[in-house]
Amino acid sequence: MEAYLNKGIKEIIDQFPEVEEILNEYDIGCAPCSVGTCLLKDIVEIHNLSADKEQELMAKIAQALYPGKEVKIPRIERKTETEPKGLNYSLPMQMLVDEHVLIKRLIALIPEVVANLDVNSKEGRQLIIDAVDFIRSYADKYHHGKEEDILFKYFDENLDILKVMHADHKQGRSHVKAVLEALDRQDEATIGKHLTAYGALLTEHINKEDEILLPWMDRNLSISQIGKLFSEFKEADETIGYSPLKYEEFIDRLEKEFKK
Ligand SMILES: [Fe+2]
Ligand SMILES: [Fe+2]
Repeated sequence: MEAYLNKGIKEIIDQFPEVEEILNEYDIGCAPCSVGTCLLKDIVEIHNLSADKEQELMAKIAQALYPGKEVKIPRIERKTETEPKGLNYSLPMQMLVDEHVLIKRLIALIPEVVANLDVNSKEGRQLIIDAVDFIRSYADKYHHGKEEDILFKYFDENLDILKVMHADHKQGRSHVKAVLEALDRQDEATIGKHLTAYGALLTEHINKEDEILLPWMDRNLSISQIGKLFSEFKEADETIGYSPLKYEEFIDRLEKEFKK
């Protein structure tokens, strides 16, 4: 069993597909992960299940790996031994979670934006340009900028979970680029396709951050690191050169327009 703890999860799932279902039962969804080289032990650690739940999960996995055999169930070593106590973010993590709320409000509007696409009118084109400006300036530069340039630097950037986060950000940028290219060609179908894909990608991405990554980072940062992180976030916000308020107003206006 110990040997499997140091194996990549995708490799284990390829060999024992039922492991994926077992992980899903514990809300550990590895299928959407674009990297998939995370080790079994890291996945268990990062999700911070209670000791009982972790033993239950490991026992089920052991049964899948060694059917009918009695296997000693290992306990995954944690860097910090905190029992999960619900989601309680530190101040800087709460800043990111709050920004996610505004990004999720844009995502909720995407189906309406797509249903009302009109590349032939000035207003219709402006709506796409404004949505892209929100994504590029607020979601990417303002929000992902703090994650990539500050927060992720506190950790080993070779960690699979961080590679996944970077890959998601990159993929988001390529959807936005494709939207603008399609706008030039007045190709509504492609605009709709990439906006919808962006919404699905970011929904999954934000869930991973809110529920897994940020709580795990909070558990692994010292009080003084959290204080430093907070002041670095504040400084980044002050030097961004535009007020995020205008993006809140944009979402308010769009929600009114589409009567959300
Ligand atoms: Fe992110
Ligand atoms: Fe984020």
